Amino acid sequence: MLSFIGNQFRKPRGFWGRIIFFSMKKNNRFAYNKIVQELEIKQNDRVLEIGFGPGIGINMICKNFNCSVTGIDFSELMFREAQLRNKRHIENHKLVLNFGDYLDFKFPVESFDKIFFINVIYFWNNIEKPFIKIKDELKQNGMLYIFMAHPTDLKKLKFTKDDIFNKYTIDYVCDKLKNLGFENIDYKFDNGYYIKCNK
Ligand SMILES: C[S@@+](CC[C@H](N)C(=O)[O-])C[C@H]1O[C@@H](n2cnc3c(N)ncnc32)[C@H](O)[C@@H]1O
Repeated sequence: MLSFIGNQFRKPRGFWGRIIFFSMKKNNRFAYNKIVQELEIKQNDRVLEIGFGPGIGINMICKNFNCSVTGIDFSELMFREAQLRNKRHIENHKLVLNFGDYLDFKFPVESFDKIFFINVIYFWNNIEKPFIKIKDELKQNGMLYIFMAHPTDLKKLKFTKDDIFNKYTIDYVCDKLKNLGFENIDYKFDNGYYIKCNK
């Protein structure tokens, strides 16, 4: 049962996916508020969110900034919910939502100024592949912003201690970024790690 719930966090679907949807909507607003402020979004920036879930972050960005936003998520449930929440921005061509696995999805090289993801890193068994892909898709000096929970907290919680959640340490993630050539790697902790760097 616990791994069933853990899997729902990875790719929400059906009845339980809806329960997860409400929990994410309520609990992750704090992280989104913080990250959206810190992305330093400028006019005409192109911003990508990987694993947008209920679509709260992209909604905040579309409402508050004059930029173009793209999202990708491989949960059909989340895709539909985010489409509903952001209907106006999609119709105004400010937002494009994609349904698919980020790891297999082709975005043009050097097409984004900012790429971010919240609570998604746990579900990647190998973080090198997505980091290389992100680096390709970021423009020169573009920014990557990641939020992830502390591995100890993941180990404590009933649903997240399952092996579906890779429990990366901050040192491991920062070393990978450094080895792949990301620059200005910086992080802070506030109920989770906020990690920021540039291409
Ligand atoms: C735990 S939820 C987090 C949702 C949202 N970022 C938040 O913090 O509220 C993880 C989300 O990432 C999506 N996801 C996970 N791996 C993905 C991948 N490889 N490609 C696209 N979406 C992915 C899931 O479908 C789910 O909506």
